[in-house]
Amino acid sequence: MSRKYYIKTYGCQMNDLDGQQMGRLLKSQGYESTPIPDEADVILVNTCSIREKASAKVYSDVGRFRALKLRRPEVVLGVTGCQAQAEGLHLQKRFPYLDLVIGPDHTNQVPDLVEAIYQKSKKSASEVHFEKPDDYRFLNLLPDESEDSIKAYLTIMKGCDNFCSFCVVPYVRGREVCRDPEEIINEAIQLGEMGVREVTLLGQNVNSYGVGRHSEEARLKKHRSPFISFAKLLRRVADESKIGRIRFTTSHPKDMPDELIEEFGENAKLARHFHLPVQSGSDQVLQSMYRGYTRNDFLKSIRRLRRIDPSIALSTDIIVGFPTETEKDFQCTLDLLDEVRFDSIYSFAYSPRPKTTAALYFKDEVSEAEKSDRLRRLQDKQNQITYEIHQCRVGSMLEVLVEGPSKSGTTFCGRSSQNHMVHFEGCENDRGKFLPLKIFHAGPNSLRGTIDEC
Ligand code: SAH
Ligand code: SF4
Ligand code: F3S
Repeated sequence: MSRKYYIKTYGCQMNDLDGQQMGRLLKSQGYESTPIPDEADVILVNTCSIREKASAKVYSDVGRFRALKLRRPEVVLGVTGCQAQAEGLHLQKRFPYLDLVIGPDHTNQVPDLVEAIYQKSKKSASEVHFEKPDDYRFLNLLPDESEDSIKAYLTIMKGCDNFCSFCVVPYVRGREVCRDPEEIINEAIQLGEMGVREVTLLGQNVNSYGVGRHSEEARLKKHRSPFISFAKLLRRVADESKIGRIRFTTSHPKDMPDELIEEFGENAKLARHFHLPVQSGSDQVLQSMYRGYTRNDFLKSIRRLRRIDPSIALSTDIIVGFPTETEKDFQCTLDLLDEVRFDSIYSFAYSPRPKTTAALYFKDEVSEAEKSDRLRRLQDKQNQITYEIHQCRVGSMLEVLVEGPSKSGTTFCGRSSQNHMVHFEGCENDRGKFLPLKIFHAGPNSLRGTIDEC
């Protein structure tokens, strides 16, 4: 009987993909996946440390598996991902029954380290140093038949060199390294051949692809194929693969070249959705966050995008309660919501993170009660805007990539090019198809449509 693994992943799409890659690596060694931790021989908690709440989950999860480890000491228990990188050996000191602590640069070593614990050639193991950018190799295991074959992630870069003052990512994911363009295009071609219909290109700053320091060093050393701009990469993925729809995340507002914006006018495979995290509507706060753009720069980019294609849906990330954020600064963020009218936002209360400039040098001076209050006011305003935008969609046609039955099981669902969740009366045969749906109902979080007969 084959051994089983259980992986619990938190955090962003990059961590999601790392979780999928670890699963694929274990499967290649004969393991099977199980959704039940009690049945597993290997349990991995794939963690995130972006905010205090996310990082606290590792303690509750690892604590929860203590009883299981006491009952079945042969189970291999590991922590992977960003919190593993952030805490390293401290985690093993705090949880002596933990077998493995593996940072994101060492995902490829998971099967060997698991085996070493099984064979008792190691009592426990920890791999949390960063690879040198030149030595970093991207994992490229493709999805297998048991996985979603409609949508897939495709990594184009790792790490981040921006060091925004609030953000832990550069400390837990290391330096920015861009993947060889030919490797990316080959993977897109293979995914298309496998029947994948939509791909999301992943990185912390995808629109800076190929322009960072390490890209330049790699190019000069000729270790990799010459880098191309992000816009050209999008064009080649569209032209050379059978992928029907291309998404990408995350983009940084400081890098918005005309070439990228114009690509939306020329590349029909690009989803009509742009996620551009603004973080705050106040110039004073943006400057303290070390974001490298002003409110006005951001608004200009939005206008340029909308000029090229007014149908592009916009979403953003916003932090409230950053140190020094006054009520007036917060009002600037509320005004920005009215001015831009984003289709949706992800909003967070600021939480100080280890090693970051803001945590070390800026006093966390907005009270927790005030942060919650600002978050609520921000979300109330955005919910209203999202609902109004959804209502304007009633009567329109949207092209939906059908993913499968809805959670409720009573309808089918999929996402429009603008990233709306759309429910409709469908059937198994519709799965993986791009269907034009006529929208007849708008809810706060999703739309309902019907197949257009004419
Ligand atoms: N690379 C992306 C962001 C990745 S992190 C970018 O540059 O925008 C995802 C989001 O988490 C960020 O956009 C930010 O809104 C939020 N975030 C990051 N650090 C945070 C912190 N210390 N407190 C609260 N929210 C934070
Ligand atoms: Fe974090 Fe800034 Fe890098 Fe985004 S760009 S991952 S917010 S440091
Ligand atoms: Fe979290 Fe790491 Fe992603 S900190 S948001 S899982 S890069």
